[in-house]
Amino acid sequence: MPGYKLAIDGPAGSGKSTISSLIAKKLGWTHIDTGAMYRAVTLQAIELNIDLNNEASYHFLETSNIHYDNNRIYIDDRDVTEAIRNEAVTNNVSLVSSFPYVRKKLVELQKNAAQKGNIVMDGRDIGTVVLPNADLKIFLTANVEERAQRRHNEQLKKGKTSEMSKVIEDILKRDQKDSTRKESPLRIASDAILLDTTYLTIEEVVNKIIELTDKKEN
Ligand code: CDP
Ligand code: CDP
Repeated sequence: MPGYKLAIDGPAGSGKSTISSLIAKKLGWTHIDTGAMYRAVTLQAIELNIDLNNEASYHFLETSNIHYDNNRIYIDDRDVTEAIRNEAVTNNVSLVSSFPYVRKKLVELQKNAAQKGNIVMDGRDIGTVVLPNADLKIFLTANVEERAQRRHNEQLKKGKTSEMSKVIEDILKRDQKDSTRKESPLRIASDAILLDTTYLTIEEVVNKIIELTDKKEN
């Protein structure tokens, strides 16, 4: 059985990972956070001290082993789920993910990971490139002030303070880089359903998407 494939794309802070993870929990499906994979490559590149601007430096991916297990992400046997959220990774991940070689490697891994069972996969190019035949494609959005506020709240919860204007600036920078790169830019697949979450709670978004998967299944 190939299973149900649900693709969720959208810009930073639109709620992709939170919503996808909750849907997977509720339905007993597997969640694959592709952003975490690009972050893991970025972390490894920083640690290897390679020239981040040179695409050829990323050939370490031929032998590196980035994988998912039980909602945790690993480089070889090392759990890097928390480490991939650091500032250096966040500031460089859009650069790293703009290289065709890096994307080719990760898209291969993602397509393989999606083959078995019911999957919810979130990222930027899932509906357009990784799972073009997905059963349901959702594109989440929210206005930039709301997305920045969500990130700001996350920082506060971790006991960190952040300047709102700086958070907005960083998000806009990443949106711009992700939407304008040559290789599979962030864009809405022609058959995706656009869901603006600016004024929706997490639960409302989760229920709405589950309702849409039910409709597609019947
Ligand atoms: O911070 P946020 O959770 O929004 O980002 P993420 O999902 O962790 O993804 C980090 C970065 O990885 C994005 O800004 C993109 O540059 C890149 N990415 C990508 O290019 N393609 C994907 N399918 C997923 C992420
Ligand atoms: O993965 P992405 O960057 O798209 O977003 P996220 O990391 O899942 O969500 C960013 C933050 O927004 C999380 O702290 C969520 O709890 C919050 N959120 C929210 O407050 N309301 C929503 N409708 C969706 C997410």
